[in-house]
Amino acid sequence: MTDAATQPAGLQQRYTAVAIALHWAIALMILGLIAVGWIMGDLEGPAQYSVVQLHKSFGITVLLLSVARIVWRLMNRPPAEPPMPKWQSFVSRAVHLLFYILIIAMPLTGWIMASASGDAPTRYFGLVDIRLPGIPTLDAATREGLEEGFEQVHGNLAWVMIGLLVLHVAGAVKHHFIDKDGLLARMAPGVFGRTAGPPDDGQGAFWAAGAAALVFATVAGLSFASAPPVAGPATTEGESEVVSNAPAWGVDYGKSRLGFRFTYMGRPYEGAFPEWTARVHLDTDAETNEHIPADGYVRVAIPVGKITTGEPQFDDSLGQGDWFDVGKHPEAVFEVKGGIYKLTERTYEATGVLRIKGEDIPVRLPFTLDIDGTTATMHGEVTLRRLDLGIGGATAAEPEGDAEWVGNDVTVVIDIIATRQ
Ligand code: HEM
Ligand code: HEM
Repeated sequence: MTDAATQPAGLQQRYTAVAIALHWAIALMILGLIAVGWIMGDLEGPAQYSVVQLHKSFGITVLLLSVARIVWRLMNRPPAEPPMPKWQSFVSRAVHLLFYILIIAMPLTGWIMASASGDAPTRYFGLVDIRLPGIPTLDAATREGLEEGFEQVHGNLAWVMIGLLVLHVAGAVKHHFIDKDGLLARMAPGVFGRTAGPPDDGQGAFWAAGAAALVFATVAGLSFASAPPVAGPATTEGESEVVSNAPAWGVDYGKSRLGFRFTYMGRPYEGAFPEWTARVHLDTDAETNEHIPADGYVRVAIPVGKITTGEPQFDDSLGQGDWFDVGKHPEAVFEVKGGIYKLTERTYEATGVLRIKGEDIPVRLPFTLDIDGTTATMHGEVTLRRLDLGIGGATAAEPEGDAEWVGNDVTVVIDIIATRQ
């Protein structure tokens, strides 16, 4: 290898094409992510949703490219440093090392935060769900803690990154314009002057690309495997599948009700879903507490087009695109995924997933259960924020998503009377 110190200025050896491409792709994305990161909190409605989704997708792209870049760097030494005082060499190496740590840590912290948040799924460029496996099924308090903690870390790391970037760019500019040692050209052949070629073309493209692909495939695969099955029609096929060996409970639909409360211009209103079907399996005799789930399974399918509020103008608009969009998503499904836990003698909590408008939202449903012989009376209420579910979201005409008229909080009220089969 040629000794860079003996080369004339402007003719240092440069980085390999792969290293240069990865350096600039990652740098550009990070600059965009930081810029967008700080403005996206001020956006609202669908615009915010799309920008946050793009932030997350590009952020994960940075992670994948960074995995490839680090593997490549380990397999290919960079060209020798130009001559410089020891302390400068130390600072430059320290900054580079911290950068390598940050280009992994920044996306990871964002990803943990996003996976813990129940607000919106993380879909890689709209294609695959890639929440970090294991996190979405944690209990709500832990997830909230994770989300808040990592939001702090994510924001603080961004400042560290900006500090390093100032040092890094200052160093590069000083080398280029004051020392005139052609350092910038090492990272951008052709743009800032001529360089000698790289020591060689480099090796390890297969391993670098493979490592990135493996990370992606593992996370996408595990998220896919742990995702709830797509809800099919609840009453027909699939109904006979055995999903739990716990005793089944037959719902008395005549005496049961699935309703909801909301406010319109501050006034309370009530509505109901007149048609729904529920499959309930629950072993009410089994040992269970807040840590040990009872043996059981619940799935409630709700044709959302059949909604009634007693106000025809509400019923008409509720089926439309920015509300329930029944043409595309005729059914909402709640399915117990995390388990049914007994908290006190009469109170339980079911952790599950509500699939509404094609999105899966983690939901914890507290309920009371009174058993009288073979009859069970269940009452549960859960308050959902409809804008988080994309219901009645913002439009160009109504950027507040009708929020001024219809309150964001909608309380779903469930009353079920069932008989042990
Ligand atoms: C957030 C954005 C950036 C990150 C994460 C980043 C990261 C890095 C890293 C880790 C290295 C060391 C490569 C190695 O030897 O292993 C490097 C080298 C380099 N970067 Fe950046 N960089 C960023 C932005 C920039 C910008 C904006 C410039 C333009 C002034 C720049 C110019 C350079 C140059 C010239 C080198 C080669 C240094 C040398 O030859 O020793 N970088 N960068
Ligand atoms: C190198 C990659 C990344 C950079 C440089 C970056 C940068 C930023 C910045 C500067 C903010 C604003 C912080 C604040 O308001 O205090 C932010 C927010 C955010 N980032 Fe990232 N990010 C990256 C990757 C990711 C990834 C991979 C995800 C998720 C998969 C993500 C999710 C988020 C979320 C959800 C917020 C909003 C937090 C809030 O509610 O204010 N980020 N990001």
